[in-house]
Amino acid sequence: MRLTVIGTGYLGATHAACMAAVGHDVLGVDVDPDRIAALRAGRTPFYEPGLDDLVTEQIGTGRLRFTDSYEEAAAFGEVHFVCVGTPQRGDGGAADLSYLDAAIDALAPHLHRPCLVVGKSTVPVGTAQRLAERLSAAAPAGAGAALAWNPEFLREGFAIEDTLRPDRLVFGIGSAAPGGESVLREVYAPLDPRPPMLVMDLPTAELVKVSANSFLATKISFINAMAEVCEASGADVTRLSEALSYDTRIGGRFLNAGVGFGGGCLPKDIRAFQARADELGVGRALHFLRDVDAVNLRRRERVVQLATELVGGDPAGRRIAVWGAAFKPDSDDIRDSPALDVATRLHALGALVSVYDPKAMDNARKLRPQLDYATDPVAAAQGADVVLLLTEWRAFLDLTPADLTPVVTRPAIIDGRNALDRATWEAAGWTYRGLGRA
Ligand code: UDX
Repeated sequence: MRLTVIGTGYLGATHAACMAAVGHDVLGVDVDPDRIAALRAGRTPFYEPGLDDLVTEQIGTGRLRFTDSYEEAAAFGEVHFVCVGTPQRGDGGAADLSYLDAAIDALAPHLHRPCLVVGKSTVPVGTAQRLAERLSAAAPAGAGAALAWNPEFLREGFAIEDTLRPDRLVFGIGSAAPGGESVLREVYAPLDPRPPMLVMDLPTAELVKVSANSFLATKISFINAMAEVCEASGADVTRLSEALSYDTRIGGRFLNAGVGFGGGCLPKDIRAFQARADELGVGRALHFLRDVDAVNLRRRERVVQLATELVGGDPAGRRIAVWGAAFKPDSDDIRDSPALDVATRLHALGALVSVYDPKAMDNARKLRPQLDYATDPVAAAQGADVVLLLTEWRAFLDLTPADLTPVVTRPAIIDGRNALDRATWEAAGWTYRGLGRA
């Protein structure tokens, strides 16, 4: 099939490369000519394991191309996937839909023959119906452009795997465009193993995405709330979480207590969802998400508090090593990163903060130029009064007390992800503090 993918950010670039990999002819579309030039050379503007190689390989097969022309895209595609961003608006929690509107407005006038426009972006419920109307108003009369919704659940760091082997596919099909279902089934027919394909109306499909992310955020904040109780009662949240995980109704995934969630999805999605529920007059139903957000942000304060205690009560002038800047390992994404937030707060308190991250250094330097950046994790710990592990990169977990003891001023470590072996560090004479652990 001939597909276009509009918006070649994280989601779009992955979707385009994966759809080419399963045999479709794909044209990636973006308004940014620099990005198009980089993609044509096989370079994506972010770090995702395997993605640059897949893009390069698929360009080589001739099945993947890129353009900045909507006219060319409209002439080429039978199916147009819209993958543009829906960031948080500057004036509050609501989603900014301007890129989505702009994409539909740019594409629609060129659609001179029947096609399916498929939204993949994360949107407030009700957006798809509005865009369907916008599309039919702007497309040439009688051309037959229809709209469907197909939310994306991929995780950073596992983007290719999640796209090629998704847990499920969700197809939002409006009553005005019932033919969208068979088109989407055909698009995804090459996936092996074949995922469950769930067909539903447009608003339900939109809700699946935001409710999934809200559930995941709630699960993380639940265990982080338990961590607060553990801290107050002398209990250990890692053992608590382990014991909970054996109940198959609960399950162990997303039950790791630590410095909390960040990234481009979970924080913004729970805020946008609340804003939308308020608009719909059901704000009370999602009131708990305020607490989910608040618990999450309190964990960052807790790390600042622990670091302050460990350096003797005042961070000013103290050397603090921060391991991690990305919001999670195997990513260079620093959006709403707990690690970078904690580093910035400690710097604001006068600490001499030295940050190291295997992939996110350039992004971190641009956003937080006031921080010092080290060339490796041991260099970051040079002269440190305390070391903070805030993003659980494998490279950090492989370090031992023997690597660090010779360089630090005081042997003290905060395990912000409960990812280190406490006994090893304590046996080597280190002061160890985990989150939610007595
Ligand atoms: C998330 C959803 O998982 C994905 O389905 C959706 O499409 C986009 O948003 P992503 O943002 O890539 O994906 O990251 P994810 O792996 O979900 O982690 C989110 C955050 O939660 C990270 O900061 C991570 O460190 C944190 N987290 C995760 C925890 O603090 N504890 C956990 O147990 C799990």
